[in-house]
Amino acid sequence: MKIRSAEILISAVKPAQYPEDINQPEIAMAGRSNVGKSSTINMLLNRRKLARTSSSPGKTQTLNFYGINDEFRLVDLPGYGYAKVSKSAKATWGNMMETYLSGRENLVAVFLLVDIRHKPTAQDKQMYEWIKHFGFQGIVIATKSDKISRGQRQKHLSIIKKELEMEADDILIPVSAQNRDGKEHVWSLIEELFRV
Ligand code: GTP
Ligand code: MG
Repeated sequence: MKIRSAEILISAVKPAQYPEDINQPEIAMAGRSNVGKSSTINMLLNRRKLARTSSSPGKTQTLNFYGINDEFRLVDLPGYGYAKVSKSAKATWGNMMETYLSGRENLVAVFLLVDIRHKPTAQDKQMYEWIKHFGFQGIVIATKSDKISRGQRQKHLSIIKKELEMEADDILIPVSAQNRDGKEHVWSLIEELFRV
């Protein structure tokens, strides 16, 4: 994918704030706090600081819409599983996510990001079920692939597949925002998703 332009369009918390033009398809990134959603968006767009990242979890708290080439959007979703979150903040998160995932007409895919080093959590499993429940294809991005050796990779990917009960048609792609591993693979998948 040739990136001619990439910009933040809006940080939204409710549908009235979502970008209006629903002729542009959207792909969203879901996953635990700190898994690397914002970093992966920057990596895909060749931009170091477009999406704000942080070493402490809970950085992204809103639905952040990024416009690319004035043709499509990537959506950075707020993370879950962050311990210091109040009950009411969790409820807000749930409502915000459900409203977007269930109601957004031009949402073509939701990628679930999990850390390649760790076994998916109960919340990761729930998120994956949710994604499928809303009718999206199962697509998982295993982040931070630079943190494990090549020799360990298959073992870690197998654990993720098994824990999430991934099916034969589901897709699992290891990526690294640090060394850009998997970038072309993700772009070819995105291009394929836009063709259908
Ligand atoms: P929230 O916004 O809190 O939900 O987190 P996030 O999923 O957007 O994570 P973010 O992109 O902010 O990254 C969290 C931390 O992981 C940062 O310190 C990043 O530098 C680091 N990180 C992200 N991706 C990678 C990667 O591929 N490799 C390595 N080594 N570190 C990464
Ligand atoms: Mg983030």
